[in-house]
Amino acid sequence: QQLQLMVLDEVDSTNAEIMRQRRLPGQATGTLVCLADCQTAGRGRRGRAWQSPKGENLYISFGLGIRGGFSELDGLSLVFGVALAEAIESFGTGPVQLKWPNDVYHNGSKLGGILIELLGELEEGFIQVVIGIGVNVHMHEASDVDQAWTSLARVAPEQQWNRNALAAELVTRVLAASEAFQADGFASFHERWTDRDLFRGRSLVTTQGQLVGTGCGIDQDGSYLIEDEAGNRSPVRAGEISLRID
Ligand code: BTN
Repeated sequence: QQLQLMVLDEVDSTNAEIMRQRRLPGQATGTLVCLADCQTAGRGRRGRAWQSPKGENLYISFGLGIRGGFSELDGLSLVFGVALAEAIESFGTGPVQLKWPNDVYHNGSKLGGILIELLGELEEGFIQVVIGIGVNVHMHEASDVDQAWTSLARVAPEQQWNRNALAAELVTRVLAASEAFQADGFASFHERWTDRDLFRGRSLVTTQGQLVGTGCGIDQDGSYLIEDEAGNRSPVRAGEISLRID
């Protein structure tokens, strides 16, 4: 399969760059990867900015064609969380956690996140997605960040953290995860995601502060299951609600 790699000193957002490239004639298929040393307008989930200082962290996006429909996007977003968690652990950090749908945490602080943006449906049953991954590697300081964060260099200071090695590991794992998901669906990722579930057994609230119940893991589609006081479990889809630990 054809893979095109772009390595940039500076860009507004690697996700935005993939979107621009994908719209060029002849660029709609194959796999496109964009890496940048810094981003001037890095994007996070829910309209937040993603702090992207130069030289410190990993900013990488993938333009992928996925055989499947929009209904599979919830599962797909979890699959890339597993790929990111396993890539990080392969460098000897010890276990990391996944905060549904796909944030990577270590000891209660965020290490990295994933922003998936949809480019559209190229033809029936073939969607184009942009997977953007940000990992704090050497992050020294961050202003205006409203959540606890950490970096790989803090989590495992004994490692010589090399962003190129991490990027190479991620490319391999993200592409393998995408292939496996298209061939077999979410099944082979279910346990790997569940093993790292940060919410399990915890009392959860929405980001607005409303209590929703206790975390019970994910269902077979990748929705998160929440148990209320009466013991009823209901699934929550990634686009519908944002959760945090009470
Ligand atoms: C989150 O809010 O947790 C998702 C953060 C995703 C950040 C990455 S950095 C590379 C790519 N380009 C962007 O503008 N955002 C993603």
